[in-house]
Amino acid sequence: MRFTALVLSATLLAPLTAMAGEDSVPPVTDPLVKKECGECHMAFQPAFLPAASWRKMMATLGDHFGEDASLDAVTRDKIESYLVANAGRGRVDRANPPLRITELNWFRHEHREGEVRRMRAKRNVKTLADCAACHRDADRGYFEDD
Ligand code: HEC
Ligand code: HEC
Repeated sequence: MRFTALVLSATLLAPLTAMAGEDSVPPVTDPLVKKECGECHMAFQPAFLPAASWRKMMATLGDHFGEDASLDAVTRDKIESYLVANAGRGRVDRANPPLRITELNWFRHEHREGEVRRMRAKRNVKTLADCAACHRDADRGYFEDD
């Protein structure tokens, strides 16, 4: 079973079981996406969010978590196509899709242990969105060890 198919599964245990058998999440391969979406933070793997989430995000770049991340229309459309084509599959509230990976159930579950807190304090990690602070090879899609 593919990790991407279960990222947003309504149940909590299914994605964990699936993830245990997967060693990586497909990394971003498009240079334009790497550049434009990797400027302020790691270019997040599209499989972490479903298409509806990416569409909403790309339609609201003028206010992107308080930042202006606007792009010209051509660039915006190209990036959206890539994100949507490689999006995670799973059911989601289409009217109000999640925009944060860090707020998904499986993410919260994986990151509530003491180990995360210890690493966060030790490495002075400001936000859990800074995947690479704890997962060295996050941009290559590896999240299993630190
Ligand atoms: C001008 C800086 C900037 C650019 C450019 C930018 N972002 Fe962001 N992004 C942010 C900030 C700031 C946050 C919030 C980070 C936090 O809460 O720690 C964020 C958060 C996110 C999150 C949610 C992370 C979480 O909490 O799970 C996603 C997904 C995301 N960005 C995708 C993108 C995509 C896709 C692009 C390219 C179209 C992009 N970003 C370009 C600044 C930027
Ligand atoms: C403060 C440190 C920290 C940050 C920041 C962090 N993680 Fe983690 N993450 C961990 C720890 C610790 C674990 C659980 C131990 C393990 O399995 O490596 C974990 C587990 C995971 C797992 C499950 C790995 C598996 O195979 O069991 C995934 C997937 C993951 N993180 C993705 C992310 C993503 C995506 C981000 C950024 C949006 C992120 N993490 C940010 C520390 C962190």
